[in-house]
Amino acid sequence: MTDTSTASAGSVPLAPRAWPLLGHALPLLRDPLAFIMSLSGYREMVRVRLGPSSAVMICDPDLTRQVFLNDRTFDKGGPIYDRIREVIGDGLSTCAYPLHRRQRRLCQPSFHPTRLAGYGAVFARAATAKAGSWRDGDVLDVTQEMMTLTTRATMETMFSGALPAETMQRCLADTAVIVSAFFRRMMTPALLRRLPTRQKRRYDDARTRLAATIAEIIAERRADPTDHADLLSTLVAAVDEESEDGRRQLNDAELADEALTFFLGGMETTAITLAWALHLLATNPDVQHRLKAETDRVLAGGKLDPAHLPSLGLASRVVTETLRLYPPAWMMTRVVREDAELGGVRFKGGSTIVLSPYLLHRRADLYDEPDRFDPDRWLDAQPDRRATYIPFGAGARKCIGDQFALTEAILALTAIVDRWELTPVGDQPFQPKVETSLSSRGLRLRLTERRSSGAGDAERSAAAPLSASVQPSTQPGAAACPVKHGR
Ligand code: HEM
Repeated sequence: MTDTSTASAGSVPLAPRAWPLLGHALPLLRDPLAFIMSLSGYREMVRVRLGPSSAVMICDPDLTRQVFLNDRTFDKGGPIYDRIREVIGDGLSTCAYPLHRRQRRLCQPSFHPTRLAGYGAVFARAATAKAGSWRDGDVLDVTQEMMTLTTRATMETMFSGALPAETMQRCLADTAVIVSAFFRRMMTPALLRRLPTRQKRRYDDARTRLAATIAEIIAERRADPTDHADLLSTLVAAVDEESEDGRRQLNDAELADEALTFFLGGMETTAITLAWALHLLATNPDVQHRLKAETDRVLAGGKLDPAHLPSLGLASRVVTETLRLYPPAWMMTRVVREDAELGGVRFKGGSTIVLSPYLLHRRADLYDEPDRFDPDRWLDAQPDRRATYIPFGAGARKCIGDQFALTEAILALTAIVDRWELTPVGDQPFQPKVETSLSSRGLRLRLTERRSSGAGDAERSAAAPLSASVQPSTQPGAAACPVKHGR
């Protein structure tokens, strides 16, 4: 982090309990959420120190919006993105402002609503198959199960499911190693990060192997240019008509970075969201009952289909509320590219800014009973997606996969709750593990089968192996998600 103490020193208060030399590193490592929430009394901004460097944390929704909207000045950067860049190079999520618009134009067609309908069919099939693989009385490692589900579904949508099981397994294992190492590496000073420890070797090996696997898949796809109607085909075919010659496409290295970006960016966040949603349903049986009633009414004994999405209002609100309480991207960082003013404070170029959806989503002046799980708070209210509700960020850098993730999460929740009743294991409240994401690692839930015949059987037989390729829909908006995202 860069020292901002010379930038209008004194005007931004320093958070209490900074240790000499260490700054706030200890509370941030010991209990980051408690530390972040201890800052909610600051209405606008507060300075946090990590060792010799410091960053300014923005606590106000309006200032947060200003940072999001001015992405030329408040650019992607800072410790989180430096670590992510180690793995995915200059992909869409990590590239700096000068590269961003062109890359976004090239990636956008992969997430066009006409594509979402095809992806939705894969999600419904994958979730039904996953829910059909459990047995009555099972105690699930929920996060692990949701990671397998979203990895499979992401692979299907990206590579039309043409991957051998062994490749899929290897990608899953490598991704797990990379994801769990991110936060530790982010918090470790550069010198220590370079030490040749066993953990570093595992991390480096996983990174190299995953990149090689993706490069292999891309090489095969280049050799066989048939339209596989999946995300990778759309990326390979994408042309930037606004480039100088109007014909600019992604080269192999850029393709690999983007494929890795979608893969890593999409899978874990969606898996965590689903795991938290299942936890919240298990601990709020009344909502779970109502959700089951919704699935009964909407599916009416038939097979889950993306066309059901507009009728899955409660499932959609459960996902919206889950993302408010447990936003996977609990904090984001930005680097100030050139001297700038924000909220009456002068920031020097190079300063680090921290934004926290977790902090804003739990502010009592923005939400009634902010810690309570209440999907019905969204019955008549639309989330303000530019300031107070920002699980997907906002502005030009807003998540490109938001509708993809919401479609996947709503369909998966429906498939699971339709078949299984979920109950907590033990009576200890489950706490998030704070890593780069707000992880649900270690969450376990017990399953009780709701029924063993009838509609359940129809769904089980519909849980065909995930081998069909993703079919693009010709109906724009066919998979339109009931949750709409504004800019
Ligand atoms: C619930 C699931 C998800 C959550 C909570 C989430 C969250 C976010 C957030 C907060 C950002 C903005 C980060 C920032 O401004 O610093 C972001 C960006 C991004 N996300 Fe997601 N994401 C999710 C799912 C996905 C999926 C499924 C994909 C792709 C398949 C994806 C791909 C991306 C990409 C490429 C960016 C960078 C966009 C840009 O800079 O133009 N995400 N995501």
